[in-house]
Amino acid sequence: MKVLLLGSGGREHALAWKIAQSAKVEKLFIAPGNAGTQNVGENVDIKADDFEALKNFVVENGVDMVIVGPEDPLVKGVYDDFKNDERTKNVPVIGPSKAGAVLEGSKDFAKQFMKRHNIPTAKYETFDGTTVEEGLKFLETLKAPYVLKADGLCAGKGVLILPTLEEAKKEFKEMLGGMFGNASARVVIEEFLSGIECSVFALTDGKNYKILPEAKDYKRIGEHDTGLNTGGMGSISPVPFATKEWMQKVEDRIIRPTVEGLAEENIEYKGFIFFGLINVEGEPMVIEYNCRMGDPETETVMLRLKSDIVDLFEGVAEGNLDKRDIEFDERAAVCVMLVSGGYPQTYAKGYEITGLDKVEDSVVFHAGTKMQNGKVVTNGGRVIAVSSYGKDKSEALQNSFTQAQKIEFTDKYFRRDIGQDL
Ligand code: AMP
Ligand code: GLY
Repeated sequence: MKVLLLGSGGREHALAWKIAQSAKVEKLFIAPGNAGTQNVGENVDIKADDFEALKNFVVENGVDMVIVGPEDPLVKGVYDDFKNDERTKNVPVIGPSKAGAVLEGSKDFAKQFMKRHNIPTAKYETFDGTTVEEGLKFLETLKAPYVLKADGLCAGKGVLILPTLEEAKKEFKEMLGGMFGNASARVVIEEFLSGIECSVFALTDGKNYKILPEAKDYKRIGEHDTGLNTGGMGSISPVPFATKEWMQKVEDRIIRPTVEGLAEENIEYKGFIFFGLINVEGEPMVIEYNCRMGDPETETVMLRLKSDIVDLFEGVAEGNLDKRDIEFDERAAVCVMLVSGGYPQTYAKGYEITGLDKVEDSVVFHAGTKMQNGKVVTNGGRVIAVSSYGKDKSEALQNSFTQAQKIEFTDKYFRRDIGQDL
């Protein structure tokens, strides 16, 4: 079959790599893709949120299935747009409907949904411009540190954690005053949870689900989790504290109630659900939902997925995911992200990347790269994910660090402590 994947980051290169291995796929297109995805499929110069152009492409090229990588097109309703068009209504789109993507698109909706379905999460309240005083009072009832979340999508920047009540009150007012534009017109204030985070992923057809290998990502720019938040500096899978017993709690208390809750509320959801969890004294709690896979978690999770991912996607499309097998690779997998110097603040683009051909034993996923005059150049903050297997985490990390040295570009930076805290 012919498959079209939307997106252009490291997550999409990892998905494309896995999709291309399927015996069921005769042609893989990636819109718009990056310099890496063109090695496993054909890049198409259409933006992931240009629905008209995407639909035309699907019709003209006889595409049989569309897989959505990033949240943006999902929150904008790509699923519904395809369904509501006579020409594309029978082409399965792997990703939730617009109503389902609200789990990520609105923090307030996600919190209300969890409350309705008894899913463990931090205590919270939501405020807007008309309830500023109430919000300030609610802050006074909480203990430091204080967690403020813009309700809408902010490209991962909408959460502030403040050490003092004074700062929390100030930032709260600024958020409602438009710090993140319309996205912070409503603000969720929630209780701070202390623990280690873990990303768990499920693929659902709306009724059945399969749980993928879990992963942990490393968000801060500096070693030992210091400095600014980034899109993710690396990831590991498996996660040592995610034992069989812990994952059973996750399934019973979080995954099943979420899938059943969506069905009960008639929210169409055929795609990935990303559960951002935190382990609070042995008990999993939900920090957030995302309506897609994680980045850079996908760059390790895809290595650990043995089964044909397109067979699973067919199960999603046909509503018979329970009839499909999912198998994991027992080896460990890790990903180390090479980033542009200066990231996540200002950084330059357009530097030539060399040494990619010298890499052995690791899988190189491109994140922010593009082709320029026949050369691969940097085109973003996060540039290259170096993913590796190992018999255990240490061996996998050793492989990634060794291969990461071989790839060169001006002002390259990466964290050398990925996975060392667990
Ligand atoms: P989010 O955008 O919801 O993933 O939040 C970004 C990050 O803020 C999370 O990955 C956590 O590290 C942190 N965070 C969010 N909510 C809480 C909370 N209630 N308690 C502690 N940390 C939190
Ligand atoms: N790695 C976290 C995310 O993709 O949102």
